[in-house]
Amino acid sequence: MTAKSPLSGRNIVLGITGGIAAYKSALLARLLVKAGAEVQVIMTPSAREFITPLTMSTLTGRPVITEFFTANTGEWHSHVDLGLWAHFFVVAPATACTIAKMATGVADNMLVTSYLSTRARVFVAPAMDLDMMAHPSTTRNLETLRADGVTIIEAAEGELASHLCGKGRMAEPAEIVAALEAAAAPETTLAGHHVLITAGPTVERIDPVRFISNFSTGKMGYAIAEEAAARGARVTLVSGPVALHASHPAISVVHVESAREMLEAAQKAFPDADIAIMTAAVADYAPATVEQHKIKREHTPDCRLHLTANPDIAATLGAAKRHGQLLVGFALETDNEEQNARDKMQRKNLDLIVMNSLQDAGAGFGTDTNKITVFRADGHTSRYHLKSKAAVAADILNEIEQCAHSQA
Ligand code: C5P
Repeated sequence: MTAKSPLSGRNIVLGITGGIAAYKSALLARLLVKAGAEVQVIMTPSAREFITPLTMSTLTGRPVITEFFTANTGEWHSHVDLGLWAHFFVVAPATACTIAKMATGVADNMLVTSYLSTRARVFVAPAMDLDMMAHPSTTRNLETLRADGVTIIEAAEGELASHLCGKGRMAEPAEIVAALEAAAAPETTLAGHHVLITAGPTVERIDPVRFISNFSTGKMGYAIAEEAAARGARVTLVSGPVALHASHPAISVVHVESAREMLEAAQKAFPDADIAIMTAAVADYAPATVEQHKIKREHTPDCRLHLTANPDIAATLGAAKRHGQLLVGFALETDNEEQNARDKMQRKNLDLIVMNSLQDAGAGFGTDTNKITVFRADGHTSRYHLKSKAAVAADILNEIEQCAHSQA
């Protein structure tokens, strides 16, 4: 009996675009279905000139979607639902046109619109003529997709539909399935490890209806928690109030409100943790006293808040750190960035600090992207370009794993 494919039970959107290699998508769909995946095909309008929706719907057991709605019934196809349903989103073949649209967000068809809605891991298998493939525009667009966290399954060299020879043949369906299977197989690099993560803002009450906080959304911390859990770790996520949910079953979320509550929860989990990653934007100050009743403007025309400094959670854990524990901090800087980040690493006894600058567009609070530089206590520095927060989470965990190996 052959082993069960890691794609078994996974939902896959298979996007097909208008290139001659579309005939190979039938075999790809067949292999994915054989692996036990649920396959939903989305075709661009021009893909239908190359392969029929009937072929694809017969192979997958699901009606093929091309338009935003079915003309005769008026049935609306929700690109948002489809995007969220998918565990994997693969575009094969991907033409230069669709690659350009994906890179720039030109959502004028069901496929690109669903791509923009998906949170799934995305794969693109380009197929085109050799000169289109080598064109600086295609190179640039593929680079953009890579930076967005998309995995490019490289085209092969060989004879092309034009009878010219060169790079541009779509990867073979079996290769595409292998790439998806490798991604679906659980990474076990953090198996047996306990990772503590703080995330989101803290909220410091002034009175029953008012508080002091900041703009942190928790996206970076939650992305790291998902990535660590996907790598086999048990994760304790101490989270301030955010609008996010952790989806991996290995993540247990401890909901807290204030910096003091966050410190207490972090201190409780820390002794058993191998790695602690402090992504939370902890409020620096809290009101010295919390009013029991709502402060009334009429009664208090001149309202002065007395604030006291909050405890530094990272520094507290840093002081308690034992041999073998790795402590990671973040530094969101606006000026004299590198020096401030390095000083912070030393002051808080961190092993590694992830710096993002508010001067970089797309980095910092609320964005779906981040641009980081990682400084390690051993002097090693890595600079990364702008990427999705999911891709940044993977980079950070790779850095942490390297750091752990070098300390072992
Ligand atoms: O000193 P600064 O706030 O810039 O340090 C940022 C790093 O320290 C982050 O990793 C943050 O999560 C952590 N921190 C903390 N407790 C505080 C302040 C910051 O854990 N009170």
